Amino acid sequence: MLYENMLSRLASAPSPISNEEYRHRQQMLLARLDTSAALLLCANPQRLRTNDVHHPARTNSDLLYLCGCADEGAVLLAMHSDEGWTVTLFVQARDIEKEIWEGRRLGVEGAAASFPIHEALPRGELEEVLAVRLQDAGSVYHRIGLDESVDRIVERSINDKSRARQQLGQGPDQQIDPSGLLAELRLRKSEAEIEHMRHSARISSLAHLISMQSARPEMGEWQLQALIEGFFRYAGADQWAYPSIVGSGDNATVLHYTSNQDACRDGEVVLIDAGSEYKGYAADITRSWPVNGKFTVEQRQIYDLVLKAQLAAIAEVRAGRPYLAPHHTARRILAEGLVELGIIDGSAEQSLDNGELQKYYMHGTGHWLGLDVHDVGVYRPDGEPRLFEPGMVITVEPGLYFGAWRPDLEGLDPRWAGIGIRIEDDVLVTEDGPDVLSSDCPKDPDELEALIGTA
Ligand code: GLY
Ligand code: MN
Ligand code: MN
Repeated sequence: MLYENMLSRLASAPSPISNEEYRHRQQMLLARLDTSAALLLCANPQRLRTNDVHHPARTNSDLLYLCGCADEGAVLLAMHSDEGWTVTLFVQARDIEKEIWEGRRLGVEGAAASFPIHEALPRGELEEVLAVRLQDAGSVYHRIGLDESVDRIVERSINDKSRARQQLGQGPDQQIDPSGLLAELRLRKSEAEIEHMRHSARISSLAHLISMQSARPEMGEWQLQALIEGFFRYAGADQWAYPSIVGSGDNATVLHYTSNQDACRDGEVVLIDAGSEYKGYAADITRSWPVNGKFTVEQRQIYDLVLKAQLAAIAEVRAGRPYLAPHHTARRILAEGLVELGIIDGSAEQSLDNGELQKYYMHGTGHWLGLDVHDVGVYRPDGEPRLFEPGMVITVEPGLYFGAWRPDLEGLDPRWAGIGIRIEDDVLVTEDGPDVLSSDCPKDPDELEALIGTA
């Protein structure tokens, strides 16, 4: 019922990304490649979890970006000829025996009809086909280390001395990583991508809201996790975009706490960092709130300070500003606030460099977000900080952490011990300033107090 009510608040799902858009992406990339080169992109191989059980498959984001194919074992090959670029997709062939056990496959014909490609071939023929076709390539754009079987084929095509290179001077003589070129494209999101990301952020926001409404003291961290991740799937997301962090009290001060195995005690603040993945696109949202619905004076002081820093940092997400502007603003405000609260001695200015602020705020203020939660895109092209452009999406996630368990914080006034607060939103750069994709997720402290435990 709780899920059903929440689902009614979710805007309708965006239209799927069109084949026209995928073709445009392909053209944008291929136009940047040397026409004598071949491009190869392969799916992430399956990873073993236990004995004969694999981790759920999640394909390579570059492959997903270029053609929308999430199929296990897929490999994309692009080569240039007099007719222009030809995009070939190798996919698992139909196999009734295997399909009965593992699930239906599109097969070669299905893939040719579904994806924006010129031809589909069976994955089983990859080695044979590449051995012939790569003889016509001067180099191979291929990222080593994702699929060993494809690495071996590329390596052989470059090293094989007995074939055409020796005779005719043909064949690839180098491998080039195409990731940088793809990253530059993926950094700027299209309208359709933004709608996917907004939908993912909305699902995640409502999931956080469910956890707030359902909370009561002594509830297990794992139970809040279950409510959130259950709603991701209920609302149509593929899965989580990264393992959910649900840490109450001192656990909130461990940045990558994911065991989520303790009870949320009366009087503690719980920190939840959880985001869904919707058709490949990640959301990344953190909220921190009192388990019993009422901040203590100290918790509220820290919360207000982190929120002040976060709002000021979000305001820096503007076209033309350097990507580090939110970080510098957040750090300055946190430092000033900590001096005011008497937690840092001396000047705020000095605390930025002498390690004092670092004790309580030790991470960056944001990262690119997209098909990967820590998305691709060089932060300092040519050594200079990247300037924000419309279409870029970055997280804004300042926090303060006072782990009671930390020996390095021995002299800290016990009033602050055990408080961990982070507030994280997903922010799109637009011509008109920041657009917070995760704005459905409450963060006003009075609103939070009114919501907690109301389910
Ligand atoms: N949830 C991972 C991060 O915030 O970067
Ligand atoms: Mn996060
Ligand atoms: Mn993040």
